Amino acid sequence: MQLADVAALTSAEGRQLLAQLPPYDDDSALAVGEQLRRQGHPASLVAAALTQSRLRTRAGRRWGAAGAELVGHLLLTPDGAQQATRPTVAALRAARYARVGPAARVADLGCGIGLDALALAEAGLEVDAYDRDPLTVAVARSNEAARADGPPIRVFEADVTTIDRDVIAGYDAVFVDPARRQNGRRLAKPEAWSPPLSWALALPAPHLGVKVAPGIDRSLVPIDMELAVVSDHGDVVEAALYRGATRDGPVSRSATILPDRALLTDRDLPAAAPPVAAVGRYLHEPDGAAIRAGLVAAVVARVDGWLLDPQIAYISTSRMVVSPWVTSYEVLDVLPFHLKRLRSYLRSRHVGHVVVKKRGSAVDVDHLRTSLKLDRKAPERRTLMLTRVGTDPIVAICRPTARL
Ligand SMILES: C[S@@+](CC[C@H](N)C(=O)[O-])C[C@H]1O[C@@H](n2cnc3c(N)ncnc32)[C@H](O)[C@@H]1O
Repeated sequence: MQLADVAALTSAEGRQLLAQLPPYDDDSALAVGEQLRRQGHPASLVAAALTQSRLRTRAGRRWGAAGAELVGHLLLTPDGAQQATRPTVAALRAARYARVGPAARVADLGCGIGLDALALAEAGLEVDAYDRDPLTVAVARSNEAARADGPPIRVFEADVTTIDRDVIAGYDAVFVDPARRQNGRRLAKPEAWSPPLSWALALPAPHLGVKVAPGIDRSLVPIDMELAVVSDHGDVVEAALYRGATRDGPVSRSATILPDRALLTDRDLPAAAPPVAAVGRYLHEPDGAAIRAGLVAAVVARVDGWLLDPQIAYISTSRMVVSPWVTSYEVLDVLPFHLKRLRSYLRSRHVGHVVVKKRGSAVDVDHLRTSLKLDRKAPERRTLMLTRVGTDPIVAICRPTARL
């Protein structure tokens, strides 16, 4: 995608062409392109439109129903789509910023193609969005222009680290979403992000949000900020730090599950450490957001359960539980982990398919799967949960219960 493509795609012809494209499909893309060129559309425009269609279709799938509708109005770049906040998560964040005050002025520093900026504006905030990449800025401007109503978003091309601190201090609130990849690879160190985490945290902004990696070392979270982790349909999709009005009061850590917006915070943590005992009738995997936010003990308390090991995030209960915070399995058997014994156990029970999960186990899952040499035609399915009790490796042979 080039700057010229943005101009072509936002022209009257480009918009019309994009609107008439069928949902993208690899198998038919060549034929569709051929047909459009025969109709007289320039080859470069057809190629750009098909790329857009592919990016939109992929992003729509990833972003779910709410995003699928929005994506039809957006221009995307491959990097921009990959780094963009999914719309449901951006809306959740925008609700935090709305607490700063009606029509508060927010600086979105490193706005990308503008998904957060759009959500902030949708929540009634006045947004100035900054990015240093000219193509990204052009795309963000096009996405801003495609909005039907709401306060305008001003999009500036700038390296945010060169913005005068007084200018930043003039905003009511600031959001920073640093680029955490370079050449397609994740940058593990927060100081390698662009802009670096320490730069973002030092901004003169009483109401501040900074997106971070979900696996961030919790010792890097400042004492006056909340680490908020969000999962969507079971996948951890983001973590961010918040202070001032964007923070949820005195909360230091929170986990939110989408789409139902279930919330756990450090205030839900029990006073005592969770009980530890042997595997009971049910085993549960806590939601990844609760794990990343360090709130497993709160989940244990919620489901009235216990841990198998203080360091391992598997929860057990004697009763079936229905909770958005866990994926649950009925335990059929528990064995010391021993390959030959497990193989004959599964064969004798006509198990042809296994799903293998592990926590605190050094077993190579792919190697285990092949070494089990299951008869694929055998009808039974099981979930194997590999873990340890103390230093002893065990395997719980389970079957999933219905998930909420
Ligand atoms: C993770 S993306 C932002 C995604 C955005 N929140 C969204 O939802 O669409 C980070 C953006 O920061 C921009 N960026 C990185 N370093 C920057 C800097 N020093 N100044 C301005 N923009 C920067 C990158 O060009 C990239 O577009």
